[in-house]
Amino acid sequence: MKARLSIHSKYQVGKIDNRLYGSFIEHMGRAVYGGIYEPHHSTADEQGFRQDVLELVKELKVPLVRYPGGNFLSGYNWEDGIGPKEKRPHRLDLAWRTIETNQIGIHEFYEWSMKADTEINMAVNLGTKGIDSARNLVEYCNSPIGTYWSDKRADNGHKKPFGIKTWCLGNEMDGPWQIGHKTADEYGRLAAETAKAMRWVDDSIELVLCGSSSSSMPTFGSWELTVLEHAYEEVDYLSLHQYYGNQENDLAHYLARSLDMDQFISGVVAMCDAIKAKKKSKKQINLSFDEWNIWYHSNESDKAIAPWEVAPPILEDHYNFEDALLLGCLLITLLKHSDRVKIACLAQLVNVIAPIMTTQDGPAYRQTIFYPFMQVATYGKGTALTPVVTSESYATCDFEAVPYLESIAVLNQEELVIFAVNRSQEVMDFEVMLEDLSITKVVEFSQMSGFDIKQVNSEANHKVKPEGSNDFEVAGDSKKLSASLAPLSWNMIRCAVNKK
Ligand code: AHR
Repeated sequence: MKARLSIHSKYQVGKIDNRLYGSFIEHMGRAVYGGIYEPHHSTADEQGFRQDVLELVKELKVPLVRYPGGNFLSGYNWEDGIGPKEKRPHRLDLAWRTIETNQIGIHEFYEWSMKADTEINMAVNLGTKGIDSARNLVEYCNSPIGTYWSDKRADNGHKKPFGIKTWCLGNEMDGPWQIGHKTADEYGRLAAETAKAMRWVDDSIELVLCGSSSSSMPTFGSWELTVLEHAYEEVDYLSLHQYYGNQENDLAHYLARSLDMDQFISGVVAMCDAIKAKKKSKKQINLSFDEWNIWYHSNESDKAIAPWEVAPPILEDHYNFEDALLLGCLLITLLKHSDRVKIACLAQLVNVIAPIMTTQDGPAYRQTIFYPFMQVATYGKGTALTPVVTSESYATCDFEAVPYLESIAVLNQEELVIFAVNRSQEVMDFEVMLEDLSITKVVEFSQMSGFDIKQVNSEANHKVKPEGSNDFEVAGDSKKLSASLAPLSWNMIRCAVNKK
């Protein structure tokens, strides 16, 4: 099978915001306790953070981590997590029916984020709380000392403001499962007023408004239009959430789920722009895809977990090779929309539907999905080029034409980097045609291929990972790269280029 990607450096999707490669840590399951924090672990530092996990987070190159939820957020009192640890309350977390010990709060998470070379994307509770709690938290985190909450921060050991830039106004407020679930009008009004007060405390912050908790919500569409009608001028981003799964065990259908993400993003962009036009606004609202991933492997086993435990092993999906292929397609889809999707958070980061898994008292390891994410987060920097793809396609129950090739190229000062998934079961003769660039050298060609599609990684067996390949050729005039993409493969090709 033949397929082609044609590119021109002047035909651009847009500049990639590094926050596109964000992730998420919620106070749930073993994400915090037993994940990033395990004070008795052999690698724990003086603050109880697992250094083996920190190393893997750094390797993943995550620039932003959304915190502290998620559904947990909607019942959370952030004040429970400050001050002496021994005085912090143990609370019922109604979202996940567990016990929250509050041994990690904003100070500890900030320290962890510094060690992990990442920024916090803070979320405020608009379920059980409101304007007052939110504006106090901005003051606590970002105001210079001299006021009630900033002085409390200093008393608790941090004189300098944390300087948190990106803030979410609640979580999935359209979902009946949410504590303090609201109608679109109720949420839209509350979000707008909360946003105003938060910005009056610190006008440098950026704010994310909750969109629908998935495109399959019955209120999807009307929710977006209503909340934007209320809050358009007060916010910067609208959120999207979506998880995918292969419940039907249908590989061709599963690998096409990225077309659903593509459609979802285009629809939400259209809604933002419709409200912009209606309001005759000069401002553009961009998107924050602040929860996306694959989530279905753990659905059944989670039903057996007893309630009211501290850090039970919930949502522990063990990802296989086909999940890594879909994750690659989803990453390419985000890049294809990088003109409008400025923030995205792989949900989540450690243990809970995560690229990094830990064993209690034992090692941490990379799941299959770790690799495509790490490669794109590391090398997908600069400008995403408009991908003109020529490929045969197949049909699914949802889409008439799913191209066998999913691909995009990213250009920066140093390199042209091509990401590609071969969705077919055949070898793909892949050509990259460069209109105005010339390849001077192929720096790296890495492939993930040849595994059983159900193969997972584990603590003991860490098979599924990329390998180098030499199966490529650059034509004499350096305007054409030919590479052989293995059947069902994730590929990254890094090239040094000249602009001519
Ligand atoms: O990431 C797991 C959960 O999925 C989050 O808590 C919630 O926001 C979403 O439904």
